[in-house]
Amino acid sequence: MNAISIENLRKEYDGIVAVDGISFSVEEGEIFALLGPNGAGKTTTVRILTCQIKSTEGTAKIFGYDVNKDCSKIRRIIGIMPQETSLNELLTAEQNILFYGMLYDLPVREIKKRGKELLEAMGLFHRKDELVKNFSGGMKQRLSLIIALIHKPKILFLDEPTTGLDPQARRHIWEFIREINNEGTTIFLTTHYMEEADYLCDRVAIMDNGKIIALDTPAKLKNMMEREKILQIEMDYDEGVIEAIKSVDGVKQISDEDGIIKIIVEDRKGLLLDIIRNISDRNIKSIATVEPTLEDVFIVLTGKRLRD
Ligand SMILES: Nc1ncnc2c1ncn2[C@@H]1O[C@H](COP(=O)(O)OP(=O)(O)OP(=O)(O)O)[C@@H](O)[C@H]1O
Ligand SMILES: [Mg+2]
Repeated sequence: MNAISIENLRKEYDGIVAVDGISFSVEEGEIFALLGPNGAGKTTTVRILTCQIKSTEGTAKIFGYDVNKDCSKIRRIIGIMPQETSLNELLTAEQNILFYGMLYDLPVREIKKRGKELLEAMGLFHRKDELVKNFSGGMKQRLSLIIALIHKPKILFLDEPTTGLDPQARRHIWEFIREINNEGTTIFLTTHYMEEADYLCDRVAIMDNGKIIALDTPAKLKNMMEREKILQIEMDYDEGVIEAIKSVDGVKQISDEDGIIKIIVEDRKGLLLDIIRNISDRNIKSIATVEPTLEDVFIVLTGKRLRD
């Protein structure tokens, strides 16, 4: 059975089309990502799927239950970690867990037992009696994840679970998501980190302007770039250099960051020589061909970068 099936889903907010007719399904047991830039429509999609808002058009089913009709059933089998955590800052970690656990009518003993396991797994057990207002951003995110799991949902929705976290905290969350998935929980997450989608997910849907513009495994998405090559040039540069590279026939996209110019080019014989010829009066430190990332796929599909 599909964990999620979405058909022609659309959401409009007073004239703004946030979700523009999307259709896809997620299989039970998958880790699935919606990858897209700010404003793509990711949170709106999650809110519809988790019965927080109604769609303008279209249908979605969660394990066969319809988001337009069966919300009370859906709420029992889903866990949600929202983009903005909804913790009570004036309660302790454990009190927050109890509060949310009781919303699911779970017995206090069971909430405490399950809460302890999850607090231990997330490295927060020794902080359970502290007020949440004293927690760091990463700790709040972990607590929010614990709460999303307290009733053992069949499917977990994570809206940007690692935004703002340092690399170590991000890894920790990734490993935990994997573990939860290994125990059988389907994971639907949103992210604008292509590394996250690439590392964690079985399949990725790339979303932009309310539409799904590509959907496949990370490996197959990157294979779409067969006809392109990616060059990285390390050099001192200015607008003149960028313009000189842009003018070469076959250069599709160019971006620069921290002294490195990244160029997506058609795979054409002699193109590299043409580029070098155009900038040969400058001090080039290194030139390398690199493997495409999901970010490059996004750039080729949309002409813009994921993060900006
Ligand atoms: N409650 C609302 N009222 C009006 N417009 C909204 C509302 N919520 C979202 N939008 C608009 O819908 C579009 C999609 O927003 P959404 O929050 O779904 O994007 P997102 O992909 O989650 O972005 P981010 O990465 O910044 O979280 C945006 O143009 C946003 O301004
Ligand atoms: Mg969002």
